[in-house]
Amino acid sequence: MKYQKLGKTDLEASVVSFGGWGIGGGSVWSDKSVGVSDLERLLDLASDLGINYIDTAPVYGTGVSEQLLGEALKKGRRAKFLLQTKCSLNWRGDGGNFHYERDGYTVNNDTSASAIRKDVEDSLIRLQTDYLDLLVVHYVCKSWPVEETMGALLDLVKEGKIRAIGISNSKPEDLDEYEQYGTVALVQEQFSLLAPYHGMDYFPTANKHHTTFQVYGALEEGFLTAPDYVDRTFPQGDVRGKLPWIHEPIKGAIHQLFDVMKPLTEKYHCSYSNLVQAWTLQQNPGINLLTGFTRPETMINTCQSLEIQLSQEDAALIGNAAKPAQVTELDK
Ligand SMILES: NC(=O)c1ccc[n+]([C@@H]2O[C@H](COP(=O)([O-])OP(=O)(O)OC[C@H]3O[C@@H](n4cnc5c(N)ncnc54)[C@H](OP(=O)(O)O)[C@@H]3O)[C@@H](O)[C@H]2O)c1
Repeated sequence: MKYQKLGKTDLEASVVSFGGWGIGGGSVWSDKSVGVSDLERLLDLASDLGINYIDTAPVYGTGVSEQLLGEALKKGRRAKFLLQTKCSLNWRGDGGNFHYERDGYTVNNDTSASAIRKDVEDSLIRLQTDYLDLLVVHYVCKSWPVEETMGALLDLVKEGKIRAIGISNSKPEDLDEYEQYGTVALVQEQFSLLAPYHGMDYFPTANKHHTTFQVYGALEEGFLTAPDYVDRTFPQGDVRGKLPWIHEPIKGAIHQLFDVMKPLTEKYHCSYSNLVQAWTLQQNPGINLLTGFTRPETMINTCQSLEIQLSQEDAALIGNAAKPAQVTELDK
């Protein structure tokens, strides 16, 4: 495993971090079913592989991901991990802007000081812990002043409830604004071979502030793991069924990308996922690779991506082959 300091903090995180969306199940990941004992095994494997960093959010499975983690972490595992959850999206029905409706819940976005404080209280209960290593604003929102949001986060740091602050689904100018009021350790942003533009625009600003760029969705929820994944169909409500990758002409272009990568899997003795993740890590120094796992084999395989150094020519070959499939904006 490789490690990195998160932003300007002393938090030493594994470059591969464990994404907790899929373990929350629900209609968005309808084929995933993870119980506490499965998760305990995954966390023990993560420790063995050197992964010490977990990401979750209140809305992943509407509380389920955090609850499962709380159960699995309490038996002596909590101290082995940097635990990151999020704030702003909640389904309490006590204010905020409508964000989405899912699994019978209405989720609102609220970055007011009082909502953030309540989010943290609820997460600490579900996660069965008395502190969070990082708290990330899930969806940056302009309805409340950043000064108020950041003020609430800094108060939580002073109280020892959180150790560091991050923002997500933000723009470079949001990071500039948050940094006027305090230090942002990381931004968690979508970045992939199929949707690279947001990240490419963002890297210079993250680097300027020494803020870690944590990538989510590098494998595009599995679509970049194997050619046959692109041909799958998904039940109603599943987030993967709403992505642009399942429609022509993008679907065909992704198949062509796999055709280009096939000889490279042989050259580097690795999986398609390894090529995609290695390409991702090579796009900016200090990227943190947040990846969703519900199975041991995918966690093991992802760690192997850190050992692959693509030649400049091969990285360019992959990047160019992806261009016909790329989208400029992606909302998950
Ligand atoms: N801030 C936000 O708004 C936001 C949005 C989306 C995601 N996230 C965070 O980012 C994390 C990662 O994103 P994601 O889970 O959406 O998608 P992802 O990491 O792009 O893809 C996860 C999928 O890839 C599979 N996989 C992982 N490593 C693999 C490997 N080496 N080979 C083959 N398959 C592999 C997993 O399989 P198995 O499940 O079978 O193991 C899972 O189906 C989330 O869990 C969440 O923590 C944040």
